Amino acid sequence: MAEFEISEQDRQLLETVRKSINMGDISERDLDSFMNFMNEESRPFRELMTFYTCAAYEIETKFKVLNEQMSLEGEHNPIETIKTRLKSVESIVRKMNKLGLRLDIDELEAKIYDVAGVRVICSFPEDIYFLADCLLQQDDIRLIEKKDYIANPKPSGYRSLHLIVEVPIFLMNEKRPMKVEVQLRTIAMDFWASLDHKLRYKKNIDPAIQKELSERLFRCAEESARLDYEMQAIRRGMEIDHV
Ligand code: GTP
Ligand code: MG
Repeated sequence: MAEFEISEQDRQLLETVRKSINMGDISERDLDSFMNFMNEESRPFRELMTFYTCAAYEIETKFKVLNEQMSLEGEHNPIETIKTRLKSVESIVRKMNKLGLRLDIDELEAKIYDVAGVRVICSFPEDIYFLADCLLQQDDIRLIEKKDYIANPKPSGYRSLHLIVEVPIFLMNEKRPMKVEVQLRTIAMDFWASLDHKLRYKKNIDPAIQKELSERLFRCAEESARLDYEMQAIRRGMEIDHV
């Protein structure tokens, strides 16, 4: 097989991936196909990543517009923060490997929905549903999947509203629909999720301690959800004119 020219940038990328992938959980064949992926498809891969970045910008802007409009209406700023992230090459390769997918661009675009991620953090639960509805009403947004982990929390206690949407990005000569994962949560849900994430990825922890901490964390999720709704009720109470 002919040797392909591989740029310095790609070589570094490949090194990072090699280091980060535990050789125990990737087979020779997968590593081979990853080499081909990098050799033959690195330019289209980078192009695709750029498109995902642009799609995340589109979604972020849509939320910023809604936030501006809602604050004009005099109520309040429903959005505390918006964070966008692009899945790293390492996580993409790991996930595709775990799902047994072919390591190529088409498979990536067709099967992995969370390459571009936008996280919207609100103060109150009702703002989450309002913002999600506003987004989904827009005529260039197509809903692919909706998971309501606020109404139906995960067994861990995890709460958030997840949407997979398709949004078009406008390139020089084409309009390209791109998938974006949107996670909407309250400040309290986000705080909880970051602590849970720490516990989940903690290495060398005694399983009995891990179990106990998970149970306590689950109870925190319940208490924290109760506070979210109580504070929302208090805010509503303030909105009534007491003349
Ligand atoms: P993935 O393959 O992990 O993306 O699973 P999925 O496609 O079934 O999506 P899911 O709705 O389960 O959640 C995707 C994302 O939500 C994860 O990447 C996390 O960011 C977040 N998430 C889901 N469950 C939990 C949880 O129990 N704890 C924390 N901290 N985050 C979670
Ligand atoms: Mg996902």
